[in-house]
Amino acid sequence: MPELKLPFLGHGGDYNPDQWRDCPEILNEDIRLMKLAGCNLMSVGIFAWSALEPEEGVYDFDWLENVLDRLHAAGISAFLATPSGARPAWMSQRYPEVLRVRPDGTRNLHGERHNHCFTSPVYRGFVNRMNTALATRFGRHPAVVGWHISNEYGGECHCELCHAWWTGFWSKKYTDWSQLHSPSPIGETGLHGLNLAWRRFVTHQTADFMRAEAEPLRRLTPDLPITTNLMELFYDIDYFDFSEGLDFASYDSYPRWGGPDEERTALGAAFNFDMMRCLKQKPFALMESTPSQVNWQPVCKLKKPGMHLLSSLQAVAHGADTVQYFQWRKSRGASEKFHGAVVGHSGHEHTRVFRDVQSVGEALKALNGIQGAMPGAKVALLYDVQNRWALEDCQGPRREKHYMDVVLEHYRALKRRGVDVDVIDESRDFAPYKLIAAPMLYMLRPGVAERLTQFVERGGTLVCTAMTGRVDEDDLCFLGGFPGPLRTALGIWIEDIDALYDGEQNGIAMNGQSHSCIELCELIHAETAKVLGSYEKDFYAGEPCVTVNALGAGRACYIATRPSPEFLDEFYAEAFKHADIAPLIEALPAGVDVARRGNTLFVMNFTGAPVTVTLPRGTDALTGEAVGGETALEVNGIRVING
Ligand code: GLA
Ligand code: ZN
Repeated sequence: MPELKLPFLGHGGDYNPDQWRDCPEILNEDIRLMKLAGCNLMSVGIFAWSALEPEEGVYDFDWLENVLDRLHAAGISAFLATPSGARPAWMSQRYPEVLRVRPDGTRNLHGERHNHCFTSPVYRGFVNRMNTALATRFGRHPAVVGWHISNEYGGECHCELCHAWWTGFWSKKYTDWSQLHSPSPIGETGLHGLNLAWRRFVTHQTADFMRAEAEPLRRLTPDLPITTNLMELFYDIDYFDFSEGLDFASYDSYPRWGGPDEERTALGAAFNFDMMRCLKQKPFALMESTPSQVNWQPVCKLKKPGMHLLSSLQAVAHGADTVQYFQWRKSRGASEKFHGAVVGHSGHEHTRVFRDVQSVGEALKALNGIQGAMPGAKVALLYDVQNRWALEDCQGPRREKHYMDVVLEHYRALKRRGVDVDVIDESRDFAPYKLIAAPMLYMLRPGVAERLTQFVERGGTLVCTAMTGRVDEDDLCFLGGFPGPLRTALGIWIEDIDALYDGEQNGIAMNGQSHSCIELCELIHAETAKVLGSYEKDFYAGEPCVTVNALGAGRACYIATRPSPEFLDEFYAEAFKHADIAPLIEALPAGVDVARRGNTLFVMNFTGAPVTVTLPRGTDALTGEAVGGETALEVNGIRVING
């Protein structure tokens, strides 16, 4: 697979000059401003289909060549986009079958983006011809360093063509494949195995479309790496599976900065970055972010002073080799006219946003050379989207199981220990880690329990929680006792599970202390495991709630409920001691994010207040000053230390 090898840390954004083809002065000005902002990498022509093929079979590429030539002359590189994220109206009008069908069977009108059937041979044909033409014309253009195919693949189609896959399905309840329909609110939604199969099919079909879209590019430009931009905690597609077809991952990050809980916002951002890095176990591209505000959140706040630099470098700290924006220049009309951009409607550089972008450009220049470096994390959080599909679809014991909240609670507790954390799914290699936290691992795909057991036997620490080991990959319950094939590793048997009302609590008595717990309380039997903590209330007061099982050279811990964040802090502090995992920074204050790339350590203050941290000795890569020891970090402050 071709690699993304940038000789610099990338800085730039979505550049959609097809909007400004009648204004040559704007195109000239853009290049001047890009240089001024320290930009060196643009994603070009993401939604340009109607400019590239104004009529069926009539291609107009001269304007794009002119743009790429000018960028190159100015020393700016490009990810060249393929325009399949949105179609021209003539196509939908002449070939309505390219439009998506809803679960209720109605076909959409032309409009919006990604409103196309991934199966449609007609749409695939148009995409193939467009991409072949783009690769033929621009595949060797010196400005082009990679392909940005399509845009934020997502959604699903329920048309006749999209049902063809059912021929491989196992259900015994139907006498003929043709009787099956995809899950639909006006049809069947209660067959959980079928719902899971549908989600896997949507992943498969989107990946298949993406591979078909990439085929002419791979054939004509085998040296250019390919990506598509991925989204936050995306539910529709299994990105771990989907990203097999990409050369490098890229990500669109839009955290809600300035909200009531900045620490949580920063953790959410970090979690997504850590997952993007783990998709390919390689640095990723931050493909989109906003230099100021978005226009689609219910409340679109400006970034406060310092936040643009801090949030951009947080991506780099967690593995991004580029900082890109959506978009370079604000649109004049339609949906995104008020979305933040580097250049606003005023059209000049004398703005706070432009100065913020310049400061990121300078910082990236100072950090040049760290591209390619990875953290080498010893701790992993297992977040599995297929498990999420199954768990969220499961009826009982509570409608709201809050999988994502629980996952983020564990991620927070791990990050509070001041370490790098990989975010992986069930399909990844467990061997590189000393500790794996696997909250609510309800669905175990084939071989996963065996691999986790082996991980423990070889000396690893595994942490599991309530709702573990219930079903197999087809959502069939394990027979013979939960947690199914993890029973030996965890050394427990789960007999029952109680659900608590919102606002109701139980408690955990452990080490002479009391901690609260909520929502789910499993009634477990310690078989070979040792009991560490027990319930405080209800008819199961005194029964085991927290256990540890020694197995081979390792330990498998079980927390049979959803404990308070304070419990998790103490629990992981203890687990880290046992597992001999050293922090990057001791006594890290809550809200301070720390991450490492190679020998460069990033310490980032998201607390919203000044804090003091104890830094290792080294040189501040941004200022060149010597740093180390007790150090004050200002609001939204950052230190990058080369040690
Ligand atoms: C997404 C899309 C962009 C743009 C931004 C706005 O990430 O990929 O084209 O619409 O959102 O935030
Ligand atoms: Zn379809």
